[in-house]
Amino acid sequence: MLSGKRILLILGGGIAAFKCLDLIRRLRERGADVTPVMTRAAEQFVTPLSVSALAGEEVHRDLFDLTKEAEMGHIQLSRSADLVVVAPATADLLAKMANGLAGDLASTLLMATDTPVMAVPAMNVRMFLHPSTQRNVAQLKADGIEMVGPVEGDMACGEYGPGRMVEVPDILAAIENHFGPKPLSGKRILVTSGPTHEPIDPVRYIANRSSGAQGTALGEALRNLGADVVFVTGPADVAPPSGVSVVQVQTAQQMLEAVQASLPCDAAVFAAAVADWRVLTQSHSKIKKQNGALPVLEFAENPDILATISHMSEGRPGLVVGFAAETDDVLAHAQAKRARKGCDWIVANDVSPETGIMGGHENAVSLLSDAGVEDWPRMDKADVAQRLAERIATALAAT
Ligand code: CTP
Repeated sequence: MLSGKRILLILGGGIAAFKCLDLIRRLRERGADVTPVMTRAAEQFVTPLSVSALAGEEVHRDLFDLTKEAEMGHIQLSRSADLVVVAPATADLLAKMANGLAGDLASTLLMATDTPVMAVPAMNVRMFLHPSTQRNVAQLKADGIEMVGPVEGDMACGEYGPGRMVEVPDILAAIENHFGPKPLSGKRILVTSGPTHEPIDPVRYIANRSSGAQGTALGEALRNLGADVVFVTGPADVAPPSGVSVVQVQTAQQMLEAVQASLPCDAAVFAAAVADWRVLTQSHSKIKKQNGALPVLEFAENPDILATISHMSEGRPGLVVGFAAETDDVLAHAQAKRARKGCDWIVANDVSPETGIMGGHENAVSLLSDAGVEDWPRMDKADVAQRLAERIATALAAT
């Protein structure tokens, strides 16, 4: 897949630089040539010797190097690649890139290059959330730099939050995706994901066991095929995909509003496990115990987001896909659901506890459409997502 591709890898000075050793190895396993460049700070985290040994090439480190300029000038170096990857892209490197500074070899190459640039940020959560970094990231995106991550997670500095570098397989996927065919390029696709939380009072809520894993996998697969993904998610366990527009909501009502605000789109996939009911008698203060008397909760039905969008008379997405989570008579219930809700396709799955599907890594689904029922074998949720994304690409190409 990456055979013959030339990657100029610029390593910034962050603890995540150690992951780039593995990245170099895997890029080369896939047939890519890796030309490494290190900032001075990067050398504090990994040694130039390790980087060069894995890359099979010498490391470029100095801007003013007479010998190297005689062999290959820095301008030529900046243009010798098919893709420039900056990983870890530290706050300092992002700031230099966003503001056109060129005081060392790495930043000069980034200024001088005319090839696409992918930045893989990694830094402390406060540094990432700092308004200046956020400004720089927005500027770089506007400048056409491809941003991969960061994601939320535990950090080497002991804090938690966005700023963690995406894992090496995700960087590889982004690089492969960069060079791969993009059948969904220019298509805007909405995905709902995760559970919703319906408040009982300010400290309690009703939820369900959806982890958001299938929705996130779907968002990633659609993004990898080039779609512009709007990802509307309830409070899920699994982090949303990187490189998509994420809208976080809590309740079904908020999810409906976020979905409506995201239209128009070419296709919409409703993978969220939306709560069917909300508590009508929601209390604005914490409900207290009352000498053994039990609270009585009154419910109201939530709006059906999938049905609302499927039945739109104007501005309906060209393809609407729902999921049917069932515990018995899966196909019969899913057929009925498809007809009732008015969606084009239903992805039916059996979520009985013994299947381990809800909250697990695998899924066994059937795809119901006008063409009939297709049973897919049990597979990883990422593979279900990939297959579904490819089917969506085929369907949209035919319209
Ligand atoms: N869905 C939705 N809004 C709701 C409920 C469900 O958009 N208020 C969507 C889900 O995202 C999914 C599909 O509808 O794509 C089916 O969800 P499911 O929970 O299986 O069905 P229900 O509507 O809850 O129907 P039932 O109670 O009969 O199982």
